[in-house]
Amino acid sequence: MIEKIKAHIEDVKAFSTSKLEELEAFKNKFLSKKSGILNDFFKEFKNVPVEGKKEFGQVINNLKNSVEEKFAELKEKIEAQNEKKVELDLSLPGENINLGSQHPITVVRREMLDIFEKIGFVTIDSPEIDDDFHNFTALNFPPEHPARDMQDTFFVEKNPDVVLRTHTSNGQIRFMENHKPPFKVVIPGRTYRNEDISARSHFMFHQIEGLYVDENVSFIDLKQTLLYFAKEFFGPKTKVRFRPSYFPFTEPSAEMDVTCSICGGEGCNVCKYTGWLEILGSGMVDPNVLENVGIDSKKYSGYAFGMGIERIVMLKYGVKDIRYFFENDMRFLSQFENL
Ligand code: PHE
Repeated sequence: MIEKIKAHIEDVKAFSTSKLEELEAFKNKFLSKKSGILNDFFKEFKNVPVEGKKEFGQVINNLKNSVEEKFAELKEKIEAQNEKKVELDLSLPGENINLGSQHPITVVRREMLDIFEKIGFVTIDSPEIDDDFHNFTALNFPPEHPARDMQDTFFVEKNPDVVLRTHTSNGQIRFMENHKPPFKVVIPGRTYRNEDISARSHFMFHQIEGLYVDENVSFIDLKQTLLYFAKEFFGPKTKVRFRPSYFPFTEPSAEMDVTCSICGGEGCNVCKYTGWLEILGSGMVDPNVLENVGIDSKKYSGYAFGMGIERIVMLKYGVKDIRYFFENDMRFLSQFENL
């Protein structure tokens, strides 16, 4: 008899279910007042000889306890599971989620690249950390040349050969090393200069570089391409003017101004009452640069240009402080949601 009860205890311990009805049936099978197994054993009790009563009673109690424990344990599990199911009720109304939007730099970068891609430029990538050769030397900045001071440089780990690029022009060299002309590329990316942070300058900003190399490329091609860009980006009435400038890697070099998009050239505080805004540096690729990457400068010529994205967003939308771009203040960012 005792062995039989012990076998029941083992069964009870092994029992499991995830259904409430099955659990109730399990409990009734043992504990039901009318037909439960325990009842039968209790009835048996009076037939047990006196010296066996104690052990018999204990074993029956063990069985009763293990049924009750099992019942309580499984009931809790099943209820917890049902609660979880309620949490996942897909018919409940959703929580309000504030959708983010693209950063104004991202939006405007895409817009600018689209304009160039439409006339055959291909967008390519280049490294933000580069060596002196690609950021300076191959671009015709000889060592110790004072032009290196035009761009205060961050060096990586005090190694004078590894720099955070000061401009996307390193991408010109990276690309030309591995490609034969003709090609037409635009190179967007982050750039770094060791400058104090102010309303007008930051140690990190974004540029888009352009490069076209082919036979017989002339300054006229450069002017026409950049005029097209200015009209597409700032509006069809936009005019441009070129002012002579200096970059080691272009000859001749020029900076380009556009008529102020805020006042239309009338004069306002954004253009400092000149009617013009400077937006980029450009020029004909210096033959030395072509030779540095193994391109025959007698056969090929090219133009290059580079512009700062922050500056252009600031000019187009009248943003007064470059720091807004990097503070992630929703009040600033959400104004560009529908661009
Ligand atoms: N790299 C120059 C700068 O950052 C811009 C530039 C690019 C000028 C290409 C000429 C040609 O100031």
